[in-house]
Amino acid sequence: PEMITVQELASRMAARAGDVVKALMKMGVMATITQSIDADTAELIVQEFGHRVKRVSESDVEIGLEGEVDDEEDLMVRPPVVTIMGHVDHGKTSLLDALRHTDVAAGEAGGITQHIGAYQITTARGQKITFIDTPGHAAFTAMRSRGASVTDIVVLVVAADDGVMPQTIEAISHAKAANVPMIVAINKMDKPGANPDRVRNELLQHEIVVESLGGDTQEIHVSALKRTGLEALEDAILVQAEVLDLKANPTRDAEGVVIESRLDRGRGPVATVLVQKGTLWTGDILVAGAEYGRVRALIDWNGQNVKTAGPSVPVEVLGLSAVPAAGETFTVVDDEPRAREVAEFRQRKLRDKAAAGAMAGRGTLDQMLA
Ligand code: GTP
Ligand code: MG
Repeated sequence: PEMITVQELASRMAARAGDVVKALMKMGVMATITQSIDADTAELIVQEFGHRVKRVSESDVEIGLEGEVDDEEDLMVRPPVVTIMGHVDHGKTSLLDALRHTDVAAGEAGGITQHIGAYQITTARGQKITFIDTPGHAAFTAMRSRGASVTDIVVLVVAADDGVMPQTIEAISHAKAANVPMIVAINKMDKPGANPDRVRNELLQHEIVVESLGGDTQEIHVSALKRTGLEALEDAILVQAEVLDLKANPTRDAEGVVIESRLDRGRGPVATVLVQKGTLWTGDILVAGAEYGRVRALIDWNGQNVKTAGPSVPVEVLGLSAVPAAGETFTVVDDEPRAREVAEFRQRKLRDKAAAGAMAGRGTLDQMLA
């Protein structure tokens, strides 16, 4: 049967191993933290700790967690999280910039500030949309390989004068593999060589059928340069979001994903995170991948200090012990000892993995020299 060590299970739940041992004892199961328990017992423990179990596969030891079970009445509509993808130079950044200008709130506050990897806009009608910039798709790929889904909708940018190119195809396969609905934004419509018909047909070859050809993929014509079609694109996103019926519980402890991270000279480790469930507060203790810390400050995409960040809100977090990797998930935990224990276990696991890799490397080198 599938087995998992007590320590590993505790780590996945961001719980203390000792508490898991105690819970097992209550169930009549005696196990030390290094001993393995079967998947059925693990499942009971996971439920006992208020999480929902997701077995990744029948044969796999993996017992993924989907977080605490939320009551239906706690769920509230949350803004869609949108990732803009497309071939190099097709205008992803320009389009993000143009959309940011449509932000009524930012307009009032005096416009653009610094770049962070994600931001939220408020449309003229008051709905919110979160956009994520994924340079080179690296973060998106990293997140997907870790099984974390960040984005609700992909906006595929295709330059009207260039058509479907290698990275367009790559983006299509990412979106398909992640099972994320796509909206096609045909950009650079202001250019003399713009040929949306060609784009439509090329997309067809990759099984993307736009509405005008009888399919169900929305197709919007835009010019990031001339700022045309932006409202239509926002509307398309909101229509898609409504179909998806996106909801989250804002009242629980926060959970989410690290979108990007860096070591800042003055401020120390800085992680841009996307809150997916619950609300993140300054003062919260969180574990992000193999790092942890108490949230010293939360800074929004306009560079403003904020006290909280709810579902679908991207925010910079200061106060972590070190820089967590992009794509890692984060969880708020009750106390610092628990955070430290979970982080230390995960660090040990990373080190063991690295050591195992080095050993394997040496093995092949030995063979080569033999
Ligand atoms: P990478 O991040 O390098 O992959 O590129 P990108 O997709 O972010 O493209 P970016 O926004 O940097 O735009 C590439 C070039 O196309 C720039 O010179 C833009 O000025 C130009 N461009 C972007 N959108 C438009 C548009 O709607 N019309 C015209 N004429 N030019 C555009
Ligand atoms: Mg760019």
